[in-house]
Amino acid sequence: MSLRSLPDFPWDSLAPIKARASSHAGGLIDLSIGTPVDPTPQIIQDALCAAADAPGYPQTHGTPDLREAVAVWFEARRGVRHLDPAGVMPTIGSKELVAWLPTLLDLGPGDVVAFPRVAYPTYDVGARLAGATPLAVDALTSLGPVTSKTAPKLLWLNTPGNPNGKVLGVDHLRKVVEWARRHGVIVASDECYAELDWRDRSVGDWRHEPPTTPSLLDPRVTGGTMDGMLVCYSLSKQSNLAGYRAAFLAGDPALVQRVLEVRKHAGFMVPWPVQRALVAALADPDHVAEIKARYAVRRATLLSAVESFGLRVDDSEAGLYLWATAGEDCWVTLNRLADKGILAAAGAFYGPTGAQHVRIALTGTDAQIADAAGRLAGA
Ligand SMILES: Cc1ncc(COP(=O)(O)O)c(C=O)c1O
Repeated sequence: MSLRSLPDFPWDSLAPIKARASSHAGGLIDLSIGTPVDPTPQIIQDALCAAADAPGYPQTHGTPDLREAVAVWFEARRGVRHLDPAGVMPTIGSKELVAWLPTLLDLGPGDVVAFPRVAYPTYDVGARLAGATPLAVDALTSLGPVTSKTAPKLLWLNTPGNPNGKVLGVDHLRKVVEWARRHGVIVASDECYAELDWRDRSVGDWRHEPPTTPSLLDPRVTGGTMDGMLVCYSLSKQSNLAGYRAAFLAGDPALVQRVLEVRKHAGFMVPWPVQRALVAALADPDHVAEIKARYAVRRATLLSAVESFGLRVDDSEAGLYLWATAGEDCWVTLNRLADKGILAAAGAFYGPTGAQHVRIALTGTDAQIADAAGRLAGA
């Protein structure tokens, strides 16, 4: 335990299981973290290198053309029209934004920050860093009747979800927005897996047709006004550049301005070469389609192997993970996978509701995924 009663870092507890998996004769296949393994696309590398001469400080708000590129991308890929570039800001990857948003919004003791019951652990961490009260909720109904005094100040959504790959539909999102506006709750939606939607599409469509995972900022959801709504979006996964730390926040310009003011004081600037790389990445849907096609093959291979190993895969309709269960404690399943030399993440990392699940990432090389499938099928 440390600052603001932060929990121990969950992945540290995998060390003994990692050691067990590493002793497999064929070596360790680490599928415990969603960290891309394929090369960063050349056009993005070129944009980064071309901007290597950067003697001056970059703009915290991002350059006007970067903010415009985000607005254009939102319209082309997410069906979000009229996003005001003043309501866009680059972030140093989205994990830092998730961890600091409650603080940047000036939330603190006595304020509640709510997030899904099965969720990426950083929503909880962000509430704690602000000294606010973290609250995991299944659905709005589990909050019970709220007044503007007892409502959370901030509600996190994550669609498609990590770890379970669940996609929230337009109706669901619209109900959340209506409820949030009635109670003065800010909604922040973390949407970095939106392009990686596995529901009934042929590979050829991916480049020309936007994904069907709706954004919180979709006009069908918001009714056309972005008041109180924020989306954070990362290119780490869809563009293989987690090492660049390239992401952005977009939505209600008044809220983005509030966050921006603090970030200017705190020095939260995205490096200039990364801002240029972001512009290049956003303008090129082709590399995203290629990356997606690669994951589609890996997903199909791993899915049938995991099922033949006796696990049931739940949800997982989008994103980079299989959310799988054997109906037993996740640590038992993790040990059984470790005996095959495969390391997955414990469902318990994502809240007590995940205690019987494991999260298996699709982020292995083709050779690793084929090897993992072979080991699982030979169960
Ligand atoms: C739901 C979700 N949000 C945010 C992040 C952070 O992404 P990054 O910090 O690489 O932009 C991740 C990474 O795994 C994630 O799964």
